[in-house]
Amino acid sequence: MSHASPDRTRRLHLGVFLDGAGHYSSAWRHPASPTDRFFQLDYYKQLASTAERGKFDMVFFSDRYGIPDRYGDHFRATVRSLHSAHLDPFTLIAALAGVTEKVGLAATVSTSFSEPFHVARQFASLDWLSGGRTAWNIVTSTSDNEARNFGEDHIPDHDVRYERAKEYVTVANGLWDSWEADAFVFDKEAGIYANADKIRYLHHRGRHFAVRGPLDVPRSPQGRPVLVQAGSSDTGRDFAAHAAEVIFTAQPSLEGARTFYADMKTRAAAYDRSADSIKVMPGLMPIVGETEAEARDTEALLAEYADPIAGLAILSDQINYDLSVHPLDGPVPELHDVTGMQSRLKLIAKLVKSDALTLRQLGKFYGGSRLHRKVVGSPTQIADFMQDWFAAGACDGFNLMPPYLPDGLDKFVELVVPELQNRGLIRTEYEGCTLREHLGLPWPAGRPRF
Ligand SMILES: Cc1cc2nc3c(=O)[nH]c(=O)nc-3n(C[C@H](O)[C@H](O)[C@H](O)COP(=O)(O)O)c2cc1C
Repeated sequence: MSHASPDRTRRLHLGVFLDGAGHYSSAWRHPASPTDRFFQLDYYKQLASTAERGKFDMVFFSDRYGIPDRYGDHFRATVRSLHSAHLDPFTLIAALAGVTEKVGLAATVSTSFSEPFHVARQFASLDWLSGGRTAWNIVTSTSDNEARNFGEDHIPDHDVRYERAKEYVTVANGLWDSWEADAFVFDKEAGIYANADKIRYLHHRGRHFAVRGPLDVPRSPQGRPVLVQAGSSDTGRDFAAHAAEVIFTAQPSLEGARTFYADMKTRAAAYDRSADSIKVMPGLMPIVGETEAEARDTEALLAEYADPIAGLAILSDQINYDLSVHPLDGPVPELHDVTGMQSRLKLIAKLVKSDALTLRQLGKFYGGSRLHRKVVGSPTQIADFMQDWFAAGACDGFNLMPPYLPDGLDKFVELVVPELQNRGLIRTEYEGCTLREHLGLPWPAGRPRF
């Protein structure tokens, strides 16, 4: 395949999606997996420093509120084989802010189980303490089992979740904007601390929230944290096109990724936003070897260890449907009216249509990259793949999902990053300090409301 020469003014953005073991459901069983370090700061410091060495835009941590025990509605099936425990991501990025210098720090907080004043205040504070490196992945959560930790039996319906999320983000934006950047006066002689004309009440009263404001944290270095979203349903895309600056998405095929990319940029334009003001970063699981054969051996090892129940546990949680009610060696059932991730359900239906799978086979497969695109090969092959998607208008960058850690990330940074740098596709040094600068995103202007 020929690779179009890159436009040198346009660079790929790289984030890395981190968790304890890596993304393959069996990652913790890999002989090199440091199972005794999954809850140690030093381990995450090492991972974030590796990302910084590769001059990545950001490190990213996802979140769910509890153990993913929707499969069988009991933790027994889940915790037997799945690496299902993790640290609170906001606490983690706060700790990482003190031990890293340049890399952006993105954490997930769900709008379904928190209050905007609290969360806006935390992000504004951490944006100060990190020198403008924070990002918020706005999610609405997916599973009843998360709702059960917050006094509810069921997660709200998809549309209701997004409705609350929209109001939530409007409030958070209003709070961040409640201080103008030059509100402080600090005139010691006259005794004037701040200019009261530059600080505003919000007086928000809506269906879900009543918030007077203003925030008690002043306008932070980035103005607002970078807003990330990963809704892929129609409602989710619309929300993302309005509110988000970075879009995560699972896109197994080039054709699907191009359609999604074009759709997101068109939707953004409908909200008077420039195509450049949102960065689409599909997930990518790179399985890297010095040679293709070595990469294939790594994949085979991870696949050998993979327990189908672990994959089905992740999926049941994501779609909010207990797949254990169907026989493991029977066909994948057709599912309607589930309330979890709509877009992932569509991808599964497409997969099953082209390839008749049993649930056991689906579980094994899904526990690999969860339908994010996987590329197995040598550094050149992986760089070729990334260049091709970028040149084909399928993405602005990638949210890398190392199959196992730390080696999966080390290999990428040691072997693939120099190849991408030689091609002029990624930076060789950080030019700026804030995450907004890394991503080429503007200072947030205006006060958009839904
Ligand atoms: C890379 C990526 C990371 C995500 N992280 C989380 C997360 O941490 N917590 C969560 O509840 N959902 C997470 N999601 C799910 C999305 O927020 C969203 O629910 C999903 O993409 C389905 O969107 P839809 O309901 O609009 O189809 C993530 C999705 C992607 C693609």
